[in-house]
Amino acid sequence: MLRARRPVFSALLSLQGRRVAAAMSTLLVGQPRYAWLRKLGLQEENLGVYNGSWGGSGQWVTMYCPATNEPIARVCQGSLEDYEATVKKAKDAWKVWADIPAPKRGEIVRQIGDALRQNINVLGSLVSLEMGKILAEGVGEVQEYVDVCDYAVGLSRMISGPILPSERPGHALMEKWNPLGLVGIITAFNFPVAVYGWNSAIAMICGNVCLWKGAPTTSLTSIAVTKIISKVLEDNKMPGAICSLVCGGSDIGSAMAKDGRVDLVSFTGSTKVGQQVALTVQERFGRSLLELGGNNAIIVFQDADLKLVIPSVLFAAVGTAGQRCTTARRLFLHESIHDEVVAQLVNAYAQVRIGDPWDSDTLYGPLHTAEAVKMYFSAVEQAKEQGGTVVYGGKVIDRPGNYVEPTIVTGLPHNAPIVHTETFVPILYVLKFKNEEEVFAWNNEVKHGLSSSIFTKDLGRIFRWLGPKGSDCGIVNVNIPTSGAEIGGAFGGEKHTGGGRESGSDSWKLYMRRSTCTINYSNDLPLAQGIKFQ
Ligand code: UN1
Repeated sequence: MLRARRPVFSALLSLQGRRVAAAMSTLLVGQPRYAWLRKLGLQEENLGVYNGSWGGSGQWVTMYCPATNEPIARVCQGSLEDYEATVKKAKDAWKVWADIPAPKRGEIVRQIGDALRQNINVLGSLVSLEMGKILAEGVGEVQEYVDVCDYAVGLSRMISGPILPSERPGHALMEKWNPLGLVGIITAFNFPVAVYGWNSAIAMICGNVCLWKGAPTTSLTSIAVTKIISKVLEDNKMPGAICSLVCGGSDIGSAMAKDGRVDLVSFTGSTKVGQQVALTVQERFGRSLLELGGNNAIIVFQDADLKLVIPSVLFAAVGTAGQRCTTARRLFLHESIHDEVVAQLVNAYAQVRIGDPWDSDTLYGPLHTAEAVKMYFSAVEQAKEQGGTVVYGGKVIDRPGNYVEPTIVTGLPHNAPIVHTETFVPILYVLKFKNEEEVFAWNNEVKHGLSSSIFTKDLGRIFRWLGPKGSDCGIVNVNIPTSGAEIGGAFGGEKHTGGGRESGSDSWKLYMRRSTCTINYSNDLPLAQGIKFQ
C-alpha cells in the first residue's frame, strides 16, 4: 500500500488549511446537495494513485467546477516514486493477465461494462460537474465506454490471424497476435471517460495491462472510474494493477513517454504535446498512438436538405461548447444558399439554452477553464482583425464560471490564419464557396485531418468525396455532423491529427504485436525462394 507521505510542516499547514476549508464547507463534496458524489467513493480528500491499493505522495491539488469555479474536492497526485512503484506492479500484474484466455478477459470487461451501466447517471453527473459538459453528453460518454466494453467482449472471441499458404512442402505459415504488455493511456479533459474506455477495454481483451494518466483537471473522474473498475478486478481476484492510475501532470506524462517499459503510449491531446510525446517515444523505438487536434469542416451544397443541416451544424459547432476534437470549426456554404443558411443558423443559435450543465434542460455549458475563455476572446479579436464579421455571439457571458457565447463569424477568406488555427472553443467560421473542386481542396488544406462532412443528395459527389480526391480525413461523413462518431468504427485522423486509430474496426491491432510463424512439420529442410545451400 502506498501511503500519502508529506513533510510534517506542509502536512500541518495543509491540515490547518483543511480545517478552515471544513469550517467554511467550501468543498462541494462536503455539501448535502452533492452527497451523490459519495456513491462514487469520492471524499473531501482523494488519493490519486491506484495499483492494487490506493495511495499517492505527490502534490495536493483542488478540482474545480467550470460552471461556478467552486472547489469540488482535493486530490493527491502521484509522484515519480509512485509512478515507478505503479509500473512495477502493473508489469507483475501482466504476468497473470497475459495467461488468462482472451474470452475470460472479455468476461471481466463485460462486468466492467455492467458496473458502468449501473453507475451511468451518477458518473455522467460527475463528468458534467467536473468537466462542464451538459448532462446528456456526460451520460453519453459513459455510454460510449459501455458500448466499447460490449464491442470488446465480442472481439475477445474473434481476434484471429490468417493461416497462409506456404511455398514449402510440409510447412505451415501463420500469423499469431500477442499482447504488447503495458499500455500507457494519457487522456484529455474533454472526454475524461470515453477515451480511456476505448483504449482500456480493447487493450485489456488483447491481454495488456493499462496505466492511466487523465487530464490534471478531471482527476475526480479518473478516480471514480478506476474505483468502479478496481472493484470488478478485485471481485474476480485479479490484480488491481491491471488497470492502474497515476493522477498527475506533465512530469508523469513525460516519464511514460521516456519509459521503455511502457510498450505503447496512447496519447490524446494537443498536436503540440502529441508531437513531443511521439518524438520521445520514437527515440526509444517505442510505439505511440496519437489522437490529436482537428480543424473539421462541414460543406453544404446547394441541393442539401437544410432540415438536416441546421441541427447538424448546431450539434457539431455548439455541442460540448466547441470542445470536441471533432467539433465543426469551418462551415463551407455554397454561395447560392449562404445567406439563407446563416440566417437560419443565427436563429437556431439564439434558441440554445445556456445554463448549469447538470440541469437537464441546458444545451450549452461553460468552457473547461478560465484559460480557455482567454483563448476564445483572443480568437474573436483575431477573426475581426483578419476581416471577419461576428454575426452571432462574440462575447464572454457575465455570470460565474467560464461561459462564453457560441459564436458565428462570416466573411473571412478560406485561408485566413485564424481559420487555419484550431482554437478549442465554440467559434464557427462560415465561408462561401463556388464549386466542388475548390471546396474539397479547402477541406484538405488545413494541417489537421480528423473529421469532415458534406451535405448533398448527389450520388456522384458523395462517392467523389469518399474517393482519392475527396476528404483526406480519418472520418468522412455524408449528411451527418462531424462529431458524434460511433464506437464501432476506427476513430482517428491523418496529418497533424496523428494517424492513430482507436475503438472499433481493427484498431485492436495497434495494441498487439504480430508474429509471422513458420512451422516445419516435415523431415526435410527446403529453403524459400528455392535456394540450395549445400
Ligand atoms: C474527442 O473529442 O476527443 O466523435 C473524442 C465524437 C466522440 C468522440 C470525440 N464520439 O465526437
